[in-house]
Amino acid sequence: MAQDSSLPDFWCKRYLSDVMPWDAGGVPEEFMQYSQQLTPQQTIFIPGCGTGYEVGWLAERGYAVEAIEFSPAALEMAQKVLGQFAQHIHAGDFFTHQPNQPFDWVYERAFLCALPRKMWTSYADRMAKIIAPNGVLAGYFFIGDQPKGPPFGISQAELTALLSPHFVLESDQASVAPLPVFAGKERWQVWRRCDNLSH
Ligand SMILES: C[S@@+](CC[C@H](N)C(=O)[O-])C[C@H]1O[C@@H](n2cnc3c(N)ncnc32)[C@H](O)[C@@H]1O
Repeated sequence: MAQDSSLPDFWCKRYLSDVMPWDAGGVPEEFMQYSQQLTPQQTIFIPGCGTGYEVGWLAERGYAVEAIEFSPAALEMAQKVLGQFAQHIHAGDFFTHQPNQPFDWVYERAFLCALPRKMWTSYADRMAKIIAPNGVLAGYFFIGDQPKGPPFGISQAELTALLSPHFVLESDQASVAPLPVFAGKERWQVWRRCDNLSH
């Protein structure tokens, strides 16, 4: 199988051969809880959405959710999962996609840990650009020592260094029901975008 997880082909091979240990097959608990506080005007973006369960969950409740995926195989699966809500997901690369407006919430799940480490600074810069002032980057982070990946583990200190130029950590809790591949290392975190940080 292809070894460079920055390429769509890496992911296509896994989706097509049904090797998807990250796929929850549904919507995780903290995501649902956090979504309760959304207002109808708020916009949500899900990069690297995979099979897109969270996209469908939000779309069927009427929320303004948009998602992108760069693996055609994942897109095909997501379109089946989403059915009538398939228009909420688009083919696109997170690093070049130009959204029409900044988002109130970018949802992270198994995306940062899917990217090779050399792309993490670009990830943080991009998040700062596409999240509205006072918006959030909220979701699941794979915290821990796991140099070989994906999933690539990140220490809490490293994640703080990566995001703190633009974001403040507002809440942090262990995920209640991580999949085996993330067991003991998955945390639900909410990072709020803050323009007035002095560094
Ligand atoms: C580990 S999977 C996680 C999928 C989904 N977030 C989930 O939780 O099930 C990582 C996903 O990110 C996608 N991906 C990786 N890099 C991407 C990029 N630069 N732009 C868009 N999608 C990307 C992959 O195709 C893959 O579907």
